[in-house]
Amino acid sequence: MIPIAEPSLGNEELNNIVDAVKSGWISSKGKFIPEFEERFAQYCGVKYGVATSNGTAALHLALVALGIGEGDEVIVPTLTFVATANVVKYTGAKPVFVDSHPDYWCIDPTKIEKAITPRTKMIIPVHLYGHPCDMDAILNIAHKHNLYVIEDAAEAHGAGYKGKKVGSFGDIACFSFYGNKLITTGEGGMCLTNDEELAQRMRILRDHGMNPNKRYWHEVVGFNYRMSNIQAAVGVAQLEKLDRFIEKKREIAGWYSEGLKELKERELIKLHPEIPWARCVYWMYSILITDDFSLSRDGLMKELDEKGIETRPLFYPIHVMPPYKCNDKFPIAEELSRRGISLPSSVKLTRHDIEAVVQGVRRYSSQ
Ligand SMILES: Cc1ncc(COP(=O)(O)O)c(C=O)c1O
Repeated sequence: MIPIAEPSLGNEELNNIVDAVKSGWISSKGKFIPEFEERFAQYCGVKYGVATSNGTAALHLALVALGIGEGDEVIVPTLTFVATANVVKYTGAKPVFVDSHPDYWCIDPTKIEKAITPRTKMIIPVHLYGHPCDMDAILNIAHKHNLYVIEDAAEAHGAGYKGKKVGSFGDIACFSFYGNKLITTGEGGMCLTNDEELAQRMRILRDHGMNPNKRYWHEVVGFNYRMSNIQAAVGVAQLEKLDRFIEKKREIAGWYSEGLKELKERELIKLHPEIPWARCVYWMYSILITDDFSLSRDGLMKELDEKGIETRPLFYPIHVMPPYKCNDKFPIAEELSRRGISLPSSVKLTRHDIEAVVQGVRRYSSQ
C-alpha cells in the first residue's frame, strides 16, 4: 500500500508526550502550549499565536473575534475544504463564492471585486494544496474596500509568497494540525496575528469567554476551543522537523514532475503548479487529467487503488453541495474538481514509491 498521507512521528514526539504526562498537565495548561504558540508564530514571522483544538475552531474563533455575524458577507473560494465556508455559516453570515485561478487553483483575485457588496466584511483566501494565493492583489482589494483578510493556511505551513511565509499577510491566519497536514498534533489548529488586542480577544473566546482576571466571570459567549498540552507537546517536536518535511515534499514534487514530464508534453495531464512568485509546499501533489488521457479521472483512481496506490479526488466546489447549492457557475473550479487527482505525498515515501506511482499513471495513460 502506498498511502496518500501519513504522519511522520518519532522519539522526539514520544519524549515530549511522556514529559507532559509525567508533569500531570495534560489538559489545556502546561509549558508546551505557550512554547508551541510562540515558536510557530515566530517561524511564520508573526507576533502572536493562539493554539486551538482544530483548524475549523481556529477559523471560527478568528471570524467571531473580528465581529462577523448575521447580515455580513464573507468571500471564500468555492474550491476549498468545506470548513472554510462552514465557519462563515456558524456565525450567521453568508459565504459568497469566487472562482479559482486556472494557473494555480487558489481564489482568482480578478474575480473578487465583482462579488463585493455593501455587506461584504471579509475575504478568506485559502492557500490550496500548499500553493500560496496572490496576496498582494488580495490585500489591495481588501484595503480599497476596507475588508478584513483571514488567511486559511490549513494546507500550507511554511509556504512562501514573494519571500515571506504565508500566515503573515492577513489580519489573522489559521492553520490546521490534523494528521494529514505538513505538521500534526493529531487534532489541532492555531490562529496567528500581529495584533495584541485581537490575540487576547481570541484567547478569551477560546476559553468560554472568561475574564482572565476574574475566574468564572464571562463577559461574552465563548467556546471551548483550547489545545491540550499533549497536543502541543507533539506540535513542538513536529515544528523542529517542518523545514525537513517541506524539503521532502518539494523533492517528491520534483520526482513526480520529472517522471510525468512526458505525459505533460503529450498534453495528457497537467502537473501541480508553482507560480514564479510562490514557494509551494505541495501538501498533496496533484495533477489534472485531460480528455486525451485514456481513462477518466475516477477510472484512473480505481485502477491505482487496485494496485495499492491510494489517491484522492480534488475537493468538490462548495457551491455544488447540498448546504450551499446555488445556480451560479464557477467553471474553473468545476473543471479542476472534475479533472484533479491528488497522488501519494507522505514525507515517508521513497523515490522507489514515487516511481511506482508514476509507472501506474503512465501505464493507464496509454491503454
Ligand atoms: C483549507 C482547509 N481549511 C480548514 C480545514 C479544517 O481543519 P481541521 O480539520 O483541523 O478542522 C482544513 C482541513 O482539514 C482545510 O484543508
